[in-house]
Amino acid sequence: MTTWRPQPGPQEKAIRASFVDELFFGGARGGGKSEFLLGDYLADVDTYGEHWKGVLIRRTYPELDEIIDRSRIIFRDAYPDAEYKVGTHQWQFANGAVLKLRHLENEADADHFQGQQYSWIGWDELTSWTDMKAYHKLKACLRTGSATIPNKRIRSSGNPGGANHGNIKKYFIDAGPESSIVEGDDGMKRMYIRSLVTDNKILLERDPGYIKRLEGVGDEALIAAWLKGDWNAFVGQYFTNWDAKKIAVPSFEIPDHWPLFGGLDYGESSPSCYSLYTVDFDSNVYRLCEYYQGNATASQHAHRIAQMIESCPFTGGRYPQATYADPSMFVKRRLSEVINHSPADVFADHGIFLTRANNDRITGWRVLNDALIKERLYVFDGWNDALMRTMPTLPRSSKNPEDLDTTAEDHAADELRYAMMHVYKPHRVTEPEPYEGTGQEMIDQLATQTGRRNGRYAYA
Ligand SMILES: Nc1ncnc2c1ncn2[C@@H]1O[C@H](COP(=O)(O)OP(=O)(O)O)[C@@H](O)[C@H]1O
Ligand SMILES: [Mg+2]
Repeated sequence: MTTWRPQPGPQEKAIRASFVDELFFGGARGGGKSEFLLGDYLADVDTYGEHWKGVLIRRTYPELDEIIDRSRIIFRDAYPDAEYKVGTHQWQFANGAVLKLRHLENEADADHFQGQQYSWIGWDELTSWTDMKAYHKLKACLRTGSATIPNKRIRSSGNPGGANHGNIKKYFIDAGPESSIVEGDDGMKRMYIRSLVTDNKILLERDPGYIKRLEGVGDEALIAAWLKGDWNAFVGQYFTNWDAKKIAVPSFEIPDHWPLFGGLDYGESSPSCYSLYTVDFDSNVYRLCEYYQGNATASQHAHRIAQMIESCPFTGGRYPQATYADPSMFVKRRLSEVINHSPADVFADHGIFLTRANNDRITGWRVLNDALIKERLYVFDGWNDALMRTMPTLPRSSKNPEDLDTTAEDHAADELRYAMMHVYKPHRVTEPEPYEGTGQEMIDQLATQTGRRNGRYAYA
């Protein structure tokens, strides 16, 4: 017996699509996404009984709490003898079906699921993860042992925006037309079904002001994303002035007298990003080539970066006059290879001398944005893949809209920021104010203004 019913429209369509292996349900806020996940699990409790093992995942525990509260109402209503076991965070149905509720922050947490078997996996707000690694890792758990469950499945939900926006857009939204089946390389069928808040009649009846309040957020992109479920609205994207077509230019040999700089964002398990830059006489900055690798020690990175500098085809192997580096690299600590050395010391041992970069993030992004708006940043086409790949996907921080979401793949962006902060000079321009008086009056007025600074940064 199930009393919860999907609402007519997308929610019902999504529940009916149980033959699709992976389904992403989402779009607008308040579209009934979390309800869909709970209802979709419930739909087969009777069908498969003890073989129906589900896990519903959210990124953090407090978020999970919300869904547990809602499940208490829906599940109890449908199955009065179902029991929620607080200690193990799982629903136990009388016929043996189980739904575990779990929080899982990152890929490493996904390892704890190794060897487990589920016939139903649900990801609520999949956009809140930083990437799809945990999602794909858990696909290995979609197994049912001896039982035959043709419609074992993975369901997920989300709104446009968030750290995983770009990946989800690519995997589900742009893979094919809405509600069409796309077959993956692994043979799994996947589908995207869009839900809008206007499809959630129950919510709108109960809260008629909901849409007005959403519109009240003011920001057009945000409204397009949250109300219309528009994945192309710039809600998540931080660098709205990033235009790859304008930025990528053919490479050329750098004259000997042009300055050469380096930028470096440091990671050991996460990638380190190092790039070479030059600046021409019009203050245009060129990013020549990049090194982008993870899983290496300081000396391995330094060795490989030195090799890249020496074999750079545009500079004759010249070393940069300064490399602006991640300030955290100057902290002395116990490294695996040397004791009481900082990564910067290790780089110096390899002939790469680092300068501590200014790490004022917001100012750094403003400087970089100034260069983007004025079209003063160029990148050698084909030599800067990590930067070109990651920059357009980087999401805005939900906490501070002036900053990036630092959980995203921001190593190339940070490295670019360190470099730009030091090598790019935003232009100070003076715009004469229109003057309508006589020549003498103008002279008199100017005389009174001696010493006044009326220059400012001009933003196009
Ligand atoms: N099928 C349904 N039956 C009853 N109520 C529903 C149903 N779908 C959505 N709702 C109502 O709409 C509200 C918002 O749905 P929810 O799934 O929380 O939205 P989302 O997760 O998309 O923000 C729920 O709290 C619930 O009251
Ligand atoms: Mg929800």
